[in-house]
Amino acid sequence: MTTAQEISALKARERAIVLAHYYAPDEVQAIADFVGDSFYLAKVAAQTDAETIVFCGVHFMGESAKILNPSRRVLMPDLSADCAMAHMATEEQIEKLRAEVEDLAVACYINSTARLKGLSDVCVTSSNAVRIVRALPQKNILFIPDQNLGSFVAKQVPEKNFYYSGGYCPVHAVLLAEDVLSEKRAHPSAAVVTHPECTEAVRAVSDFIGSTAEIIAHAEKSDAPEMIVCTEPGVLFELKRRCPDKKFYPVSPQCADMKRNTIEGVRDCLALGRGEVLMDRADMEVAERPLRRMLALAK
Ligand code: 13P
Ligand code: SF4
Repeated sequence: MTTAQEISALKARERAIVLAHYYAPDEVQAIADFVGDSFYLAKVAAQTDAETIVFCGVHFMGESAKILNPSRRVLMPDLSADCAMAHMATEEQIEKLRAEVEDLAVACYINSTARLKGLSDVCVTSSNAVRIVRALPQKNILFIPDQNLGSFVAKQVPEKNFYYSGGYCPVHAVLLAEDVLSEKRAHPSAAVVTHPECTEAVRAVSDFIGSTAEIIAHAEKSDAPEMIVCTEPGVLFELKRRCPDKKFYPVSPQCADMKRNTIEGVRDCLALGRGEVLMDRADMEVAERPLRRMLALAK
């Protein structure tokens, strides 16, 4: 029996579904029931009636699934898969600004710990952040933890004032505009497609900016036969599947944490019931409100 066949049998035994982010390894995306960006996967997790959700992503994704659907068992192939940016804001930063600035909303990127979510007014993902922040009644926005996504939103919502906690994604932030321009010199007719977690300098030399799902949807619609891809290269699996005649040139490094989700890890967590996301009830309760508000505002 292949590992994929073992997983299939275990999914039936455990009444389980497998969710994978576009940054998960190719072979994991290939066996998943649902593959998508953070927002899509959060919605699938919130709505499923499967007894077990195997979440092939990073820890904040497993936490969000558990918070939005607490009666389900959430397993992760490797519980140590964490997003470094999820910790890049502090309670002190939030409290200080709440005390100093009137008419303030804290908008929290879903790439954050449940505790940070619980201190926030609303969660956002890269595919809905502009729409949600624009819809908030407050004039002042503390955007945590990603300053790059925050500054991307700020450009499109100029009527509000933005404050930041100063966090960043180590995978996206290391890419330099110079790296993109040198790739462009090698492929002059290629369009540049970029995740908003990249720096402002990289965004400035891009033709399209969007979440992983938006990049894939754009590639399908676009006439460009070649694209320089400024996000984690795991998206190339779906890009090539949907656009077999186009060429894609990845320029960002891999997210080592996303790559912890191995196909053997999927099998073993289902077989042994290990890697369960267990959360403090108080953390779950406070983080639920901003997550549900995101789901409502993003409609
Ligand atoms: P999206 O899934 O919203 O594209 O975000 C990418 C990411 O970095 C997830 O960790
Ligand atoms: Fe976090 Fe960046 Fe990895 Fe996404 S790519 S999980 S933001 S470290």
